[in-house]
Amino acid sequence: MMNRPDLPPEIARRRTFAIISHPDAGKTTLTEKFLLFGGAIQMAGQVRAKGEARRTRSDFMKMEQDRGISVSASAMSFDFGQYRFNLVDTPGHSDFSEDTYRTLTAVDAAIMVIDGAKGVESQTRKLFEVCRLRDLPILTFCNKMDRESRDTFEIIDEIQENLAIDVAPVSWPIGMGRDFIGVYDLLGDRLEIMDRADRNKVAESIRISGLDDPKLAEHIPADLLEKLREELEMARELLPAFDRKSFLEGHMTPIWFGSAINSFGVKELMTGIGEFGPQPQPQSAAERQIAPEEKPVTGFVFKVQANMDPKHRDRVAFVRLASGHFERGMKLLHVRSKKPMAVSNPVLFLAADRELAEEAWAGDIIGIPNHGQLRIGDALTEGEALRFTGIPSFAPELLQTVRAGDPMKAKHLEKALMQFAEEGAAKVFKPMIGSGFIVGVVGALQFEVLASRIELEYGLPVRFESSQFTSARWVSGPKDKVDTFANTNKGHMAQDHDGDLVYLTRLQWDIDRVERDHPELKLTATKEMMV
Ligand code: G4P
Repeated sequence: MMNRPDLPPEIARRRTFAIISHPDAGKTTLTEKFLLFGGAIQMAGQVRAKGEARRTRSDFMKMEQDRGISVSASAMSFDFGQYRFNLVDTPGHSDFSEDTYRTLTAVDAAIMVIDGAKGVESQTRKLFEVCRLRDLPILTFCNKMDRESRDTFEIIDEIQENLAIDVAPVSWPIGMGRDFIGVYDLLGDRLEIMDRADRNKVAESIRISGLDDPKLAEHIPADLLEKLREELEMARELLPAFDRKSFLEGHMTPIWFGSAINSFGVKELMTGIGEFGPQPQPQSAAERQIAPEEKPVTGFVFKVQANMDPKHRDRVAFVRLASGHFERGMKLLHVRSKKPMAVSNPVLFLAADRELAEEAWAGDIIGIPNHGQLRIGDALTEGEALRFTGIPSFAPELLQTVRAGDPMKAKHLEKALMQFAEEGAAKVFKPMIGSGFIVGVVGALQFEVLASRIELEYGLPVRFESSQFTSARWVSGPKDKVDTFANTNKGHMAQDHDGDLVYLTRLQWDIDRVERDHPELKLTATKEMMV
């Protein structure tokens, strides 16, 4: 993964990334400040204010608020200096890890926010591992430095040890907690002083000629200055210097220290994303790699969200453009159905408002309203039959039977379930024997979210009950063998929403036995969402 000087300027200036963090580390606050400095909102606090307004409209959203989780992901675009940022929001709760995984297929980099007092937490580690699977470059923001936090070396060590990645400080905190006054910018030799009086004010930046500059003493109390000099000397000896190539390859993370709530360190982080990159990267398809500068437009759906606007029963498919220059009204080939699709009302997401996208470039995320044709993993091209790879569907870890409170409403229930399956919110299996559906999710909380959405969006109260099965595996192999297997194991067989065969069981032992007795069959826990 490298930055290239030869990309068309409109593509080269794009930065598409996500923020990952453990709940409470400050992701929302940092997002607000990004939008503030990106000019997408006027005053910090609006993200939440709009969030409140949205929440009052639905119980589902209320639940989101009560639980302190964010279940709906969206993408926001804004300019920062010469750069165009596309920030893709990741769901915050571990129960939605599959969704998070797919979101991360659409970005080129991630910002990892950690709380300076807490260091690397469980969710940080999980999300980091997902980034690593894709070799995503990671920028680290150590937040809440205005509070009592850990020793700087200890924080850096913990990241290096826990996540097995080199950490290169690009700023160094001066003082801590109540005595925190700012940071020393190691790359630009500047002193950034935090303003505690005004939370939205950008830090005062003072050019320094080096650690011996007498100007330092004017701004830093003697004891803190001595400590800073000592620490920086040690840091230069013990820690690697920032190396852009190593960062872009995912081996090194630059770390900034700051305080999102005080708008401190945020601009420096944004400048870092702009300057260090990465630019939109090539995307993998089964057939070949797609380079961003290729003229024909291509893209893939990584998320589908239904009922975003209660007035319209539409769904929005979020598409990451992999190549080309998209213009509104373009006719694209929907590869799975082999049908052309006129994209006449695509949307770009600017803060919380939707705006019609007149044009977009490789790296951008556009939303395409549709009536269900677009599914996760689908490719859109100007004619080539591409299949993008790497967007997996995981076997659910929890299975439950779902029943409508009113048995007459079974058809409605099926419709609702199919929609959620297409959205990727749950796996829905129709058993070959008997009636009803089995719903599979990765985390228990998703059952509640689904029940609440089905009631809210379809007016259908439902009950989830424990199922006789606990595991699901997709079955593939030569057609006649699969058919014979399915027919002799009817009680264990079901179809997913794509009609693909799934083997359900309670016992790992069963899975092992099938694999042993039927070497011609493949039982898999993930299904690549390819057509
Ligand atoms: P999250 O999205 O990662 O879950 O975190 P969020 O931004 O919601 O921040 C979690 C809490 O941490 C919030 O406080 C927020 O105000 C606070 N916070 C964020 N950045 C900083 C910082 O730099 N310094 C300090 N001291 N606190 C920070 P809260 O009380 O939970 O919510 P609120 O009432 O402030 O909204």
